[in-house]
Amino acid sequence: MTNQKTGFFISEEEIKKRVKELAAQISRDYQGKRPLLVGILKGAFIFLADLIRELDVEAEVDFLAVSSYGKATETSGEVKILKDLSESIEGRDVIIVEDIVDTGLTLRYLYDLLSTRKPESLKICAFLDKKERRIVEVPVHYIGFQVPDKFLVGYGLDFAERYRQLKYIRELTPEEVNSV
Ligand code: IMP
Ligand code: MG
Repeated sequence: MTNQKTGFFISEEEIKKRVKELAAQISRDYQGKRPLLVGILKGAFIFLADLIRELDVEAEVDFLAVSSYGKATETSGEVKILKDLSESIEGRDVIIVEDIVDTGLTLRYLYDLLSTRKPESLKICAFLDKKERRIVEVPVHYIGFQVPDKFLVGYGLDFAERYRQLKYIRELTPEEVNSV
């Protein structure tokens, strides 16, 4: 696997530091509560696993699986629920945990959907934010890193299901784009 260090890059050390900071912030905000972290599969599984272990408050976990880009790097704008939550979120303090906010279409849809299920509170925590690509507005309360408009892989983020296992975030190379 290429360990490309040119182009946009976030190191394992930077990620660890930032995840700890986010966890500290969330722990302060949810003191005395037991938040439910809702991870969006598959991309958020690594971020969620690291984040929850840094929390100082007790938390629960559930997952939602939504349709992804398939093999393309552009969003279709369509969101399909492939796997719904396994428990009710009524009265719960819910934090949606996502890998990256790009156009915002996925999170906008999920935020509105979960809002209808009467949670006590609903917030969004995204590891990466590609702000310049936003098409619809979405309230992101906790953000790991602002990133440029590049296709990024690693730390759970994939390209055609590859590269999720990288410990860092890096740009997809033109050769990798063409290899599909
Ligand atoms: P949105 O609906 O356009 O905000 O898309 C969000 C989803 O697109 C994320 O959950 C990712 O699965 C995927 N995505 C967007 N940008 C990237 C990227 O740079 N690398 C990998 N996946 C991405
Ligand atoms: Mg995703």
